[in-house]
Amino acid sequence: MSRERTVGVMGGGQLGRYFVQSAQRLGLDTVVLDPVPGGPAGAIAHQQITAAYDDTRAWADLARRCCAVTTEFENVPADALRWLAGNTSDPTRVAPGADAVAISQDRLREKTFFADCGLPTAPWAALKASADTAQRQTQLDQAAGAVTFPALLKTARLGYDGKGQISVNSAADLAAAWAQLGHADAILEQRLALQQEISVLVARDAHGASVCWPVQVNHHHGGILAHTRVGFALVAPALADAARDAARRIAQALDYCGVLCIEFFCVADAAAPGGQRLVVNEMAPRPHNSGHYSIDACDMSQFDAQARVLAGWSLPEPQLLAPAVMLNLLGDAWWGADGRLREPDWSAIMGWGGVHLHLYGKKDAQPGRKMGHITVTAPRAADAQARASQIARHLGLAGMESLHDAA
Ligand SMILES: Nc1ncnc2c1ncn2[C@@H]1O[C@H](COP(=O)(O)OP(=O)(O)O)[C@@H](O)[C@H]1O
Ligand SMILES: [Mg+2]
Repeated sequence: MSRERTVGVMGGGQLGRYFVQSAQRLGLDTVVLDPVPGGPAGAIAHQQITAAYDDTRAWADLARRCCAVTTEFENVPADALRWLAGNTSDPTRVAPGADAVAISQDRLREKTFFADCGLPTAPWAALKASADTAQRQTQLDQAAGAVTFPALLKTARLGYDGKGQISVNSAADLAAAWAQLGHADAILEQRLALQQEISVLVARDAHGASVCWPVQVNHHHGGILAHTRVGFALVAPALADAARDAARRIAQALDYCGVLCIEFFCVADAAAPGGQRLVVNEMAPRPHNSGHYSIDACDMSQFDAQARVLAGWSLPEPQLLAPAVMLNLLGDAWWGADGRLREPDWSAIMGWGGVHLHLYGKKDAQPGRKMGHITVTAPRAADAQARASQIARHLGLAGMESLHDAA
């Protein structure tokens, strides 16, 4: 395996697996670094380095084997990316860069960064970890004064899929909520009345040229993405353009390299054109669950783009080939009403047109665990939605009401 033709990914889950598949289609060899052997990505990569993400010998091993390295999740040590980019005699191309990853690891830094970009966020206040109880009380008072309730208290670090978040209905509940989070660094965010949630993928190559995918409309259930619709007339064109402009602006401000996903809230605003305005929620410095539809519905998927950037190649503006609905398959669908574990019967839906089933090869179907997804494509958006609704009912998927309503 020549180093010039080998790319590496930190993390061995489903995002790593799709990256590996895209890289392999380009004729590249692949290495996965993951502490657990044989996960979704490790099972199909040419090689796996089984080691902790903070193991400096593993970093050196990656640098020795790979000309370029990416990550499939934002909680790898930013120092690993910094070291890989700067500290080897034979430089490794690293995308995304350590600074962008470090910002997205910390909600407080992330929100401050969005404000520096001139982009609105939900009103928020910081609660910084402190051993001093008087100091904590001062922060609680200030935060309660700065944010209107109801609000959400989120851990600054390591939260995902709605984990590490507590609803706080009044100032009186705030101290207990922070205690529940162990008085770790946290952010208190005003709970906005969301009319819609959207996300945008942007990819930027090593020369700073960026491309965007169409706007994705997301629906969450229990804090986890349930479904994504793309190519539907659900977002006013001016708002979609504004979201794509904001995504490009964020990528440029980060001097970003690779695929980046920005999540936005759409909230009512009588003064805004079309009666809605955008609020930035968060960013993921990697391909994103809401972009999985791009595998089956675009001429370049988010993972193809990441592989191209790693190979040092340029990016075309991606084209949506058909309207698409992506349904997440959580482990819950593996549990029957009788409380017994059994894999869903895919045979019926596999015979329906436009249905693209993806399973990640995970053995342990826990409730809330992402086991796979289905992308439905059809020439007409209404047909994709009707088919997706039919599948969701057939499999008993939760959180799909908005698909049934309109279907
Ligand atoms: N300020 C808010 N107002 C209203 N809903 C919110 C707010 N923050 C988060 N949510 C809801 O919770 C979901 C998960 O929150 P998010 O901050 O994106 O964290 P995660 O990292 O878990 O995705 C969002 O997609 C949205 O549905
Ligand atoms: Mg989110």
